[in-house]
Amino acid sequence: MREYDFLLFGLAIAALGALALGAVMAELGRKSGATRPLVALGLGLGVIAFGAKLVLIASFDAFGQAYLERMLPDKLKRPAPPVEPMVVRHDPRLRGYVWEALPRRAPAPADNPTTAAKVALGRRLFNERRLSADDRVACVSCHDLQGKGGADGRPVSVGIGGQEGGRNAPTVLNAAFQSRLFWDGRAASLEEQALGPLTNPLEMGMPDAAAAAAKLAAIPAYRDAFAAAFGDPAINGARIARAIAAYERTLITPDTPYDRFVRGDRSALTAQQQRGMALFARLGCVGCHTGANFSGASQLGGDAPFRAFPAVRGSDYEGRYRLTEDPNAGGVWRIPSLRNVSRTAPYFHNGAVQELREAIRVMARVQLDRPFDDRPEARWQVRWSAAERVIEARPDAVIGEAEVEAIAAFLKALEGNPLPRESTGS
Ligand code: HEC
Ligand code: HEC
Repeated sequence: MREYDFLLFGLAIAALGALALGAVMAELGRKSGATRPLVALGLGLGVIAFGAKLVLIASFDAFGQAYLERMLPDKLKRPAPPVEPMVVRHDPRLRGYVWEALPRRAPAPADNPTTAAKVALGRRLFNERRLSADDRVACVSCHDLQGKGGADGRPVSVGIGGQEGGRNAPTVLNAAFQSRLFWDGRAASLEEQALGPLTNPLEMGMPDAAAAAAKLAAIPAYRDAFAAAFGDPAINGARIARAIAAYERTLITPDTPYDRFVRGDRSALTAQQQRGMALFARLGCVGCHTGANFSGASQLGGDAPFRAFPAVRGSDYEGRYRLTEDPNAGGVWRIPSLRNVSRTAPYFHNGAVQELREAIRVMARVQLDRPFDDRPEARWQVRWSAAERVIEARPDAVIGEAEVEAIAAFLKALEGNPLPRESTGS
């Protein structure tokens, strides 16, 4: 208010000055002296100038610094104070994680080099229904490479006689890079893994590997194929396993949009996928789904194959998706690869979650303690410690729908098809 009083006062004086000037000029006009009009003019202008000065001072006071700054040319303005970014710049999860592309060939053990003849035999065995007790089930029945991304699209697999198993079929794509196989990680190599389903009573139901070998030995074409692959026509469980494993080592998908992006093609991922990629690191998914095969249980940078799941207890996902019911693993599971995960619904060891976005919400909550909450006001959680008088903000306390969508879009960039065999050199 004070400034406005001042302003009015200034205007009043200026007006008075103008009046006085007018009056004096009129008086002088009548008497017409020689030097007096100039003196009167000077006096009157002085009074006006004084009034105008008061007006100026009052307005600077009233409209303040901001007004002045706007009037100044850019060069003279003070630089704006730096705005602190909302993220912690030196968070190692944000800057330190180095992304890797998938190698174009899977490593093979010294005693089972990948050769063209062995791969050809392995492909045949992978599709061979006569390897099952009722001649109806082959590996490919539950690991469909065409439509189902190397899995079967069911919550739990169906084996001979329509029997349901207890677990979801993981994809065979890129299994060649895994250091532990099966949901509970009980097999350490593809060779070791391959005989499991043959003799599993719920899957292919053969009494033992010798019975499977005898069945194949009765088919003349197989004797030739084994001779081509191993040098002599002997057929046994170990050779069946080796041929299948050699074939599986060609079922790798190194040319996904993600891999092209990491190799330098900036346009291979959309902006949303890049946001999802950054979030995947920032939230800590990379802590478990690490390295080029997105798994701590891989031969590519994975040094911690197993994790408790659920690691953070107490959410209603546990009951809804029966996450703690499987008696076999004591709550500790092998970390699966996430390559092609968008094609291998349903999710988790029991296939209880139908949708990838829901699997992401579950993961954020039960592995990283970040519940799903899409309300804007939930974004920032503040923790006040009354005892220490310290307040802390957690910008990633929850995960919202936009983040879930971005991560799902990023995971979709991990889809790919096995390369044609020529380019894998086998
Ligand atoms: C009846 C369906 C079914 C058949 C047939 C089947 N599998 Fe599986 N496969 C599964 C299921 C279910 C799992 C997971 C089992 C577990 O973790 O306990 C699995 C796991 C695997 C894995 C481990 C993948 C990983 O990431 O851990 C590989 C590799 C595999 N199977 C290859 C094969 C091969 C090779 C054959 C043929 C010899 C075969 N499967 C036959 C259902 C099947
Ligand atoms: C502490 C380790 C850990 C962290 C962190 C983690 N995961 Fe997992 N993830 C696992 C384990 C273990 C499984 C296997 C669960 C099971 O056995 O059913 C899994 C399974 C999954 C699956 C299902 C895979 C399938 O084929 O069914 C998806 C999808 C997934 N994780 C995504 C994520 C995302 C996205 C994040 C980050 C928000 C994340 N995970 C963080 C350990 C982790």
